[in-house]
Amino acid sequence: MEIKNVILEEELKNVTLEKEGNLAIITINRPKALNALNSDTLKDLDVAITNIENDNDIYCVILTGAGEKSFVAGADIAEMKDLDSKGGEEFGLLGNKVFRRLETLNKPVIAAISGFALGGGCELAMACDIRIASEKAKFAQPEAGLGITPGFGGTQRLPRIVGLGKAKELIYTCAMINAEEALRIGLVNKVVPLENLMDEAKKMAAAINANAPIAVKLCKDAINRGMQVDMDKAIEIEAEDFGKCFDSEDQVEGMTAFLERRAKNFKNN
Ligand code: CAA
Repeated sequence: MEIKNVILEEELKNVTLEKEGNLAIITINRPKALNALNSDTLKDLDVAITNIENDNDIYCVILTGAGEKSFVAGADIAEMKDLDSKGGEEFGLLGNKVFRRLETLNKPVIAAISGFALGGGCELAMACDIRIASEKAKFAQPEAGLGITPGFGGTQRLPRIVGLGKAKELIYTCAMINAEEALRIGLVNKVVPLENLMDEAKKMAAAINANAPIAVKLCKDAINRGMQVDMDKAIEIEAEDFGKCFDSEDQVEGMTAFLERRAKNFKNN
């Protein structure tokens, strides 16, 4: 399959967007700063997300960092250093807004994590649906050691993913953990050799893309929304999304193909 660089109306400086069939690949591309997230990079990411959100031919996204050393080494410390409380809050809101868009994007996002996923980098990975790490990946929330709190969702998503006690330990101590430990505590889904990282991410994307895209999108919606409310409300959300599937042609196709014992041909309709 040919990989095509996407030409966007707005030129991106620190992010690349490629498309390969029904898959989009976003790469944070600021390797000299280990892909640290400054405002420009966050804005570029926002533009890439908008493009993908509106592209009906894209069913799944891989988010990665340029180079082998780092996925993303955090928010840009040089940019943050002289902020006051108002500037800090605004920077935090910018990062959180973009990450939340990714978390609620109408298609699944797989983070492919080569090396450092620190601070905002770990937070970016946590805003993705699934995390695949290379054996060389390292994770930490080092913010308290810099005199700040995690500001792009880390205080909220880390406890939801790994549990309260482990999240507090990692955030208070700023301990750096390796990929094996990240797998053990459930921070990542899978650990693979570095040289296989993108192939494994693409393999997972292909497994997702073999299913009905509308159903996958509604699964993401039901899981995300349902996890934020009590079980009575959660099962109402599930019933609503389950019902919506029956408006899709792909539901008819999936069930008909099963009954006719033939291969299915989903069209994202
Ligand atoms: N912000 C800005 N620049 C960064 C950066 C960051 N988060 N991380 C790395 N860089 C830059 C370095 O300043 C350096 O630039 P120069 O070559 O111009 O000096 C370049 O990337 C390479 O980094 P190092 O020379 O430090 O590379 P190393 O191999 O010695 O160390 C590292 C690698 C352990 C990842 C180290 O760079 C590091 O500790 N980085 C900071 C990690 C961090 O604390 N992240 C959290 C940021 S705060 C945050 O993210 C807040 C939030 O929640 C929103």
